[in-house]
Amino acid sequence: MSEILLKTENLCKSFSSGGNIQHVLKNIDLELYDGDFTVIMGASGAGKSTLLYALSGMDTPTLGTVTFCGGVSGRGTSDAPLNAMRSEKASSRLSSGSRIISDLSPDQLAVFRRRFCGFVFQQIYLIDGMSVMDNVLTAGLLVNKNRKALVKRAKELFGAVGISEETQRKFPAQISGGEAQRVGIVRGLINSPRMLFADEPTGALNSKSGLEVLDTLTQFNQSGQSVVMVTHDMRSARRGTRILYLKDGAVLGECVLGSYRHGDGERHEKLSSFLAQMGW
Ligand SMILES: Nc1ncnc2c1ncn2[C@@H]1O[C@H](COP(=O)(O)OP(=O)(O)O)[C@@H](O)[C@H]1O
Ligand SMILES: [Mg+2]
Repeated sequence: MSEILLKTENLCKSFSSGGNIQHVLKNIDLELYDGDFTVIMGASGAGKSTLLYALSGMDTPTLGTVTFCGGVSGRGTSDAPLNAMRSEKASSRLSSGSRIISDLSPDQLAVFRRRFCGFVFQQIYLIDGMSVMDNVLTAGLLVNKNRKALVKRAKELFGAVGISEETQRKFPAQISGGEAQRVGIVRGLINSPRMLFADEPTGALNSKSGLEVLDTLTQFNQSGQSVVMVTHDMRSARRGTRILYLKDGAVLGECVLGSYRHGDGERHEKLSSFLAQMGW
């Protein structure tokens, strides 16, 4: 069994508006494992994005806890960014074992998010006046001041997602949506996060670009990157090694699929029958 990276206990999130309270996440207990490509699937409004925000410390739970269990001792310890972070007080306090994310100070939370989490969203938000390369380096420089090492890592990642050197020099307005999302993935991975959080990363892309993005995420996961992706799309869900089905803010069921291979009919059948059981 793999190491647990993130764990929630009795996680609840409610929003109040106009005197009404909406309970969006209801007593969620779950564990996310190192090395998995976890997919959180469910209909629109089920609470998937809210769950992702709570897991990544972007939002605080109303009740219950989210615990980050992966200290700095794991994969990637030889990275320059990590060594740079070690000298930071907040980081060393983070490294001493499991941490309840909502107990972190604002400084520690900032370190946790920058250093341990990578993010890929449906909206990519590249900075217009900066080249593709500079967009990625800007995210990297928040953690690692060694520009040379960052450029080297960025080039490796761009190579892995098929973004040419010419494209790296372009500005966001000069590239396609599919290219922009692959740049978004490179930016999400530049700091070698323990967990890559993706919220509907193919939601705004055409079918071909969407497939390329899914292939990219699959490829990184199969090289050891932990990923958690929210989607309401079956084609995206199929990439997961483990699928959690969220309905009305609760985890209704889970299905373990293991590593993805193209054209695996059995996998498709297994996921289809699981989703049918869930009332998809
Ligand atoms: N910041 C917020 N304030 C009020 N309600 C919210 C907020 N964020 C989400 N919600 C509500 O929570 C529910 C679930 O939203 P969300 O997590 O975005 O669902 P999903 O990602 O599964 O489509 C929706 O009904 C939404 O209106
Ligand atoms: Mg959403």
